[in-house]
Amino acid sequence: MAKVRKAVLPVAGLGTRMLPATRVLPKEMLPVVDKPIVQYAIEEARAAGIEEVILVTGRGKTLIEDHFDRAVELFETLARRGRTAELEALLGQTPQPGELVYTRQQEPKGLGHAVWCARHLVGREPFAVMLVDDLIDAPAPCLAQMLEVHRRTEGNVVAVMEVPADQTARYGIVAPGADDGRVVEVAGLVEKPRPEVAPSRLAVIGRYVLMPEIMDELARHEVGAGGEIQLTDAMARLIGRQPFHGLRFEGRRFDCGDKLGYLEAIVALAAGRPDVGPAFRALLARYR
Ligand code: G1P
Repeated sequence: MAKVRKAVLPVAGLGTRMLPATRVLPKEMLPVVDKPIVQYAIEEARAAGIEEVILVTGRGKTLIEDHFDRAVELFETLARRGRTAELEALLGQTPQPGELVYTRQQEPKGLGHAVWCARHLVGREPFAVMLVDDLIDAPAPCLAQMLEVHRRTEGNVVAVMEVPADQTARYGIVAPGADDGRVVEVAGLVEKPRPEVAPSRLAVIGRYVLMPEIMDELARHEVGAGGEIQLTDAMARLIGRQPFHGLRFEGRRFDCGDKLGYLEAIVALAAGRPDVGPAFRALLARYR
């Protein structure tokens, strides 16, 4: 089985749920404590052994590229001032040349289309897809947990979690097959079903390990739910032809594309940080 070396991160979305903050600023650059949202996903990818991250960007997203560049003036100033620890942290976070590559989704045609835009950069090998809005705080990186399942099952793996019945219309929903309580066979997938027709409450969260054949399905450019080219529809067509599993991952997921989810991520991560955590928890107590 080929090693999963590449991760595709679609970051072309407009972020309308976070207006007015996102009029100019890419939503992926909003900070959670002191790090932009996109950096959490890239650190998760690196920690899971991913060697190349492919960002599918769009107009107005160049700040993301600048963020991961070598900031020569800043680095020199920190060095001159003897702020070595900060400098070393920044250098450690800066990808090596060629580790981060960019391509553009020129039109907002959906998640499936965004992934298809990276087809030549991915080539014919299994790869990961990470939706950076889904920030996952986990004891072991969520993607690493999924790669372990992928190595065992030699097929497609999606991250899943139970959601309240009234929220199925926000997610891709799994029709479950054999289920050991942790890994569940995916027997069907439906994008954003209303609760009355949802096959379960098991929702796909934004982490995927996909076999290369997904690109052939995406190349059909079939339009699905919401008038968009859906990754879920293309995945559904692989079921029965290839192993397909969902992993109830260990960890907490925050939907940073949504105001409340974003605020919760900040509170949860700040409260757990060794540097600001104790003072932040004391401060929070004043707002109850
Ligand atoms: C996308 C996918 C959906 C998935 C969700 C996870 O939806 O289309 O299947 O459940 O991400 O966050 P979006 O949130 O982009 O509408």
